[in-house]
Amino acid sequence: MLIKRNACIPSSEITDRKVWEQRRDFLRIAALAGVSLAGCAPTESEGGSREPVVHGAPIKGIVKSRYRVEQKPTDYADITTYNNFYEFGIGKSKPARNSRDFVTRPWNIQIEGECEAPGELGMEDILAGFTQEERIYRFRCVEAWSMVIPWVGFPLGDLLKRFKPTSKARYVAFETLYDPKRMPGQKRRVLDWPYREALRMDEAMHPLTLLATGLYGEALPNQNGAPLRLVVPWKYGFKSIKSIVTIRFTEKAPPCTWNQMAPEEYGFYANVNPEVDHPRWSQRYERYIGEGLFGGKHRTLPFNGYAEEVASLYSGMDLTLYI
Ligand code: MTE
Repeated sequence: MLIKRNACIPSSEITDRKVWEQRRDFLRIAALAGVSLAGCAPTESEGGSREPVVHGAPIKGIVKSRYRVEQKPTDYADITTYNNFYEFGIGKSKPARNSRDFVTRPWNIQIEGECEAPGELGMEDILAGFTQEERIYRFRCVEAWSMVIPWVGFPLGDLLKRFKPTSKARYVAFETLYDPKRMPGQKRRVLDWPYREALRMDEAMHPLTLLATGLYGEALPNQNGAPLRLVVPWKYGFKSIKSIVTIRFTEKAPPCTWNQMAPEEYGFYANVNPEVDHPRWSQRYERYIGEGLFGGKHRTLPFNGYAEEVASLYSGMDLTLYI
């Protein structure tokens, strides 16, 4: 089955000239680098050896959450050296190498838009009052590989409530830091920086939606999105935006990076759906990272295995149209 055009945000509304220029530049750079226009395409040759594994500081007082899958978590080394983070380079091994000196304190987050209590908060203010939980989630990339990750974090919805969203807040948008001096990948016009993502308000308030601050009981490594990143376990990985500095409540659907670049390939919803192929590859099966070349293919589950919890959010929607 071919993906149909994303009906949520017509590309004519969101794909302005600047984005088209960016897409053209991306294709040019990608051709030189040997990558294809696939948000997360596995085609660039990795080259070089794997980075030595570096551990973050232990996080105190973590509580084990009831949200945990039975599968064995992927090795720490795989989770932290096989990444997508274009701000630190295109290619899975580059973020670990290029983000080593990225400083994430102090870190402020701007809260804006349709809410009664906007403002700027430091990471310490954000964390105050939250018990951090360990949740073991399946993580499925649009490239058809997956991992099982023991995240540490707290529900996004609990943070959003603090800012008292108004009745006009139908979506919540997120932006990554834009600072090409600190994020060298932003010197290349491969994406329309800063990286942007968004959720519908009910998706954002769902208890499974996590703001992660760590993994394996330790502070989040830079390459995984330090100091704060989104984790939406029933959606393809590109929705899980890293190193967030802006949270904005909006009435209209906000632009999202990959959806803007290639709406026919990356929908606004991006719910894991084995029934809807990516235009250039099947989404029926996935490869577990860590199983090696002979690990075989595993069937992908609707909503990445979280259908019982989240399918009702989309009742009445044709999910072959709203990709
Ligand atoms: N966030 C930012 N800011 N920049 C990115 O390039 N890549 C996305 C997502 N968040 C990305 C991002 C993609 S395509 C994926 S699959 C996941 O991060 C990868 O997360 P991981 O490296 O922790 O596995």
